Amino acid sequence: MDGPPVRFTCHGCGAVVDPARALPFRCPGAGRPGDDVDHVLVPDAPPGEFPAGGEEDPFLRYRSLLSPYRLAREAGLSDGDWAEIVGGLDRALVSLDGRGFRVTPMREQSALARAAGLEGALHAKDETGNVSGSHKARHLMGVMLYLQVLERAGLPAGESVRRRRLAIASCGNAALAAAVIARAADWPLDVFIPPAASPAVVRRLGDLGAAITVCERRPGEVGDPCYLRFAEAVAVGAIPFGVQGSANGLAVEGARTIAFEMAGWMRDEQVAPGSLFVQVGGGALASALAQGFGIAVAKGVMPRLPTLVAVQTQACAPLERAFRLSADVPLADAARHRSRFMWPWETAPSSVADGILDDETYDWWAIVEGMRASVGRPVVVGEETLLRAQALVQAHAGVRASATGTSGFAGALAAPPAGGVAVVLSGVER
Ligand SMILES: Cc1ncc(COP(=O)(O)O)c(C=O)c1O
Repeated sequence: MDGPPVRFTCHGCGAVVDPARALPFRCPGAGRPGDDVDHVLVPDAPPGEFPAGGEEDPFLRYRSLLSPYRLAREAGLSDGDWAEIVGGLDRALVSLDGRGFRVTPMREQSALARAAGLEGALHAKDETGNVSGSHKARHLMGVMLYLQVLERAGLPAGESVRRRRLAIASCGNAALAAAVIARAADWPLDVFIPPAASPAVVRRLGDLGAAITVCERRPGEVGDPCYLRFAEAVAVGAIPFGVQGSANGLAVEGARTIAFEMAGWMRDEQVAPGSLFVQVGGGALASALAQGFGIAVAKGVMPRLPTLVAVQTQACAPLERAFRLSADVPLADAARHRSRFMWPWETAPSSVADGILDDETYDWWAIVEGMRASVGRPVVVGEETLLRAQALVQAHAGVRASATGTSGFAGALAAPPAGGVAVVLSGVER
């Protein structure tokens, strides 16, 4: 395949990583004492046209926009090799989870828009039927495809990578997604969970063969104990298999496929929602959407970006705080002074949208960039609105999403815009 070689660049310090030679996970410049840079490795802009292919698997349809595919071709693998890698994982996913990756449904939801009192049209992407019941598996499929390409092409970055376990800190949709993808690839996974994790989720993780560590808070410890144990595992060699871009820049990219699917659908259906309301926890989903829509606009699929509205709960809104505090600061400067804008939420949060209570928005910077580029903003919603959003979606769209997964839509209830709205419904109610 023609085009420049794939590179990852840190949006904070500018470090460049060649993914054939080094793993593009945590920025090599991160972790120095006293460092206040926001380090996240981001793949460079993919060259070429927006794919016109009709493949049902997004990792086939949009392959030319994904860095693992570009790396594969650069390393001499063929299109057929890629199809074999994707197809092999797909067959395993179907047998483990009853489904592989397929372009997910996007529909106009007129009854829901009416019930919600929205003025313009409402379009919803439904990720509740995706692998493991949410969009999270897309993030981790991107990482797994990269690992598979390293192995198959025998690239230097892949040396002894099979001997390293995968690791994630989560007890929700991300953990389930990681466990399904890891099992499909027959790769051992350690999951770090809190004592209060849902027994049903823990059971499923166990069934999928994940090794589970329950993380109690140690005396005097500050920060999320699960994340601390995960970071310790990574420090001694585990592969970060979570969805925070700061720990693994590559993890964000796989979920750009949601934006590619949405943009392609909007073009085909000739609709152009003015605003995109997205629920934000750690921030990888909104980052991926902002980047994916940026690529779609750059490639002429749509004339302009939808206004990005990032939705958090009143219980925990570190992104809203960062957006406000950085309002007058050039983005490049904000990336070099992370602690002025992003730090852990001070109070222990509780919300019906419990999947977006990350005490830090790890991927805040790219979302602020996306909101600025589209003249967007954050919206903070209360519990009543979150509950109403979930009830409305279930009653009028017939989508059995969790309150976390309808919290982007809750933002549209709280701050209805004048024009059309797009949302992503994700996270099946368990
Ligand atoms: C269903 C669902 N939607 C959205 C999010 C938010 O994603 P992110 O943490 O990438 O902001 C989560 C996170 O757990 C989720 O489970």
